Amino acid sequence: MSVGIDEISFYTSSYFLDLRTLAEKQQTDPEKYYAGIGQEKMGMAAPDEDIVTMAANAALPIIERVGADAVDTLLFATETAIDQSKSAGVYVHRLLGMQANCRVVELKQACYSATAALQMACALVARRPESKVLVIASDIARYDLNTPGEATQGCGAVAMLITQNPRILSVSADVGNYTDDVMDFWRPNYRSTALVDGKYSTKIYLRALKKTWENFTAVSPLQFNDFSYFCYHLPFSRMAQKAHQHLARLNHCALTPEEIELQIADTLRYNQAIGNSYTASIYIGLCSLLDNLQDDLSGKNIAFFSYGSGCVAEFFAGQIQPGYQAYLHTARHQVMLAQRQEVDYDEYLSLYHYADPQQGESVEMPHSTKGQFRLAAITQHKREYIPC
Ligand code: CAA
Repeated sequence: MSVGIDEISFYTSSYFLDLRTLAEKQQTDPEKYYAGIGQEKMGMAAPDEDIVTMAANAALPIIERVGADAVDTLLFATETAIDQSKSAGVYVHRLLGMQANCRVVELKQACYSATAALQMACALVARRPESKVLVIASDIARYDLNTPGEATQGCGAVAMLITQNPRILSVSADVGNYTDDVMDFWRPNYRSTALVDGKYSTKIYLRALKKTWENFTAVSPLQFNDFSYFCYHLPFSRMAQKAHQHLARLNHCALTPEEIELQIADTLRYNQAIGNSYTASIYIGLCSLLDNLQDDLSGKNIAFFSYGSGCVAEFFAGQIQPGYQAYLHTARHQVMLAQRQEVDYDEYLSLYHYADPQQGESVEMPHSTKGQFRLAAITQHKREYIPC
């Protein structure tokens, strides 16, 4: 029996900052961002947008197609949780009108946890083939102002329906794993922004890629040349380019640099427009490939390298299913991106500094989102989400 991604859909915030605006303010050459880190815009969440509203918006098209009663498990992956106890998925479950006989839980391991959720979902479906599992990854990436990480902020959510005989991507059971207790990027509970040792984190990312690849090839018959395209975790696009060149070198690949670049170019397009979306980013990369590549991908092997700082990483493979084009949400994604509104530097700062109440005071959020769900208020420490 084949198991994998039957549908996939993503969503981001209604606002973005162009990195040229940031560069101008910082008196930096914009090419440092556009070419040096490979990013053009970064998504900024409005006060009434968060990981829950983005997640519900990402999953809505899937639930509209399969029905709210079809899903029996919802796995919510995030590293920017809104509560230390309650799963963000429980809010999404209500907003989407999902059935009560559904299991919901949240997973965390930096940017890796969506891959853990995907593998757990595949295992649940393998155990009960009639099961349908909704995996959602949703994150808002925030660094301190005037740090090297600032230009790599962003946000986004992706939803994937995991079933038997999937219509988009079958996921192979062979994986390569790697875990190492390192401090390259972390966020203590008392902080709203991440701490990061930037250069060190890029070295650990590349080391984890090598280690997972070695572990993967020890169990899988697939070799580098068996893969047509590669989806990497995307903290910023240049990281994936560096990673792919590194992997190609490790495998003494005979392709030209241009051919190597083409194996990832279409996976980067959405990320360049929304910025880092942490655990969602690798699967938004898959959406980007599916939506933007003109060639027919049917039957092609896709490689995935998932990396979560701290660190846990995984390399695995998937195969694109014939006829997948009929189940994509390409038009919806492109309309959503086109409708976003650009902010200037002062508006960016005001979105950046917008803080949830800390002491239980009541606050009503202005209606700013263009999405189908919003955070309307926080009262008595409770978040109130409503459809728009
Ligand atoms: N024109 C063109 N290119 C330029 C340029 C210009 N005017 N000015 C600089 N560049 C190039 C540099 O040469 C450099 O390229 P190379 O890496 O190929 O040498 C690139 O732009 C970046 O320049 P710097 O090295 O000077 O950049 P920086 O030190 O200011 O910041 C960073 C880079 C450390 C990655 C920083 O963005 C950061 O800390 N990011 C957050 C951490 C991160 O994303 N880590 C990734 C691995 S961890 C992970 O993946 C988990 C996660 O999601 C965070």
